[in-house]
Amino acid sequence: MIHDPSVLVGYEASDDAAVYKISDDLAIVLTVDYFTPIVDDPYTFGGIAAANSLSDVYAMGARPIMGLNVVGFPAEKLPLDILVQILRGGSDKAKEAGVPITGGHTIDDNEPKYGLVVMGLVHPDGIVTNSGAKPGDILILTKPIGTGIITTAMKEDIAPQATVDASVKVMSALNRAAAESMLEIGVNACTDVTGFGLLGHLHEMVCASHTGAEVSLERVPIIPGTRELADELIIPAGTVRNHEFLDDHVVWEEGISYEDQMILCDAQTSGGLLISVSETNSAKLLESLEKSGAPAVAQIGRIVEDKTCKIRVLRH
Ligand code: CO
Ligand code: CO
Ligand code: CO
Repeated sequence: MIHDPSVLVGYEASDDAAVYKISDDLAIVLTVDYFTPIVDDPYTFGGIAAANSLSDVYAMGARPIMGLNVVGFPAEKLPLDILVQILRGGSDKAKEAGVPITGGHTIDDNEPKYGLVVMGLVHPDGIVTNSGAKPGDILILTKPIGTGIITTAMKEDIAPQATVDASVKVMSALNRAAAESMLEIGVNACTDVTGFGLLGHLHEMVCASHTGAEVSLERVPIIPGTRELADELIIPAGTVRNHEFLDDHVVWEEGISYEDQMILCDAQTSGGLLISVSETNSAKLLESLEKSGAPAVAQIGRIVEDKTCKIRVLRH
């Protein structure tokens, strides 16, 4: 691979986006994300996909400035109006974020797919990676989890409407205000919670930071209705894979049920920011997040010293 010193964040760190330094006070942040529909309504799907794509820029402490549509669509199988609605959902969400969508590309595909390439700007000294967590830091999560389990139940038509509505609201919410709070106060590390689940993304953070972590199950915000569905073993395949992968890296306190383990490993779509902040700054950050109206403001655990990068999950 080419080594370019201007690439400040590249492939190896499993960070949320790549960062390229233009000058001493300016760097570009670049990311792409797209996926197949997770809800029936095309407009809602477009909005969620756009919020999810923008989130990787917010998670780097950057300001998104421009987006491009990435689209797959089966033009022979589905009415074009569906595509129009997906794109409108995406463009309205980007508008809410103050980000113009300036183009894109569509290919013919068996199944609809949608997301964005997003470009952002950041000061090179202000980049928030996942590798800066320090022992003693407080871990804060800004959205409740459970969307993987709930969207799987939605596909089987067994999710209660209130649970569906709560999940759509969580997935549609921008991480913009939470990111602004984080930048205002100053934090040590951040990532957003998506496909690898809460513990999968925390695992990446503690590995990159050469630390360990402790998480308190009862402090993790969970979308109401998730536990009931998990109890019926509505578990997405990606979540089962996350749990298997984490087997060597997570120590479960005795008494934590299989279902609760699955929830903590649940593959999320457009999840919240997982922030590692010094104890000194944590109270200010919590206060600022409360004011920002983040979908959740939860202190879920702490970073500890541990060269083997283990996560210990405690019941309390
Ligand atoms: Co991410
Ligand atoms: Co991503
Ligand atoms: Co083209």
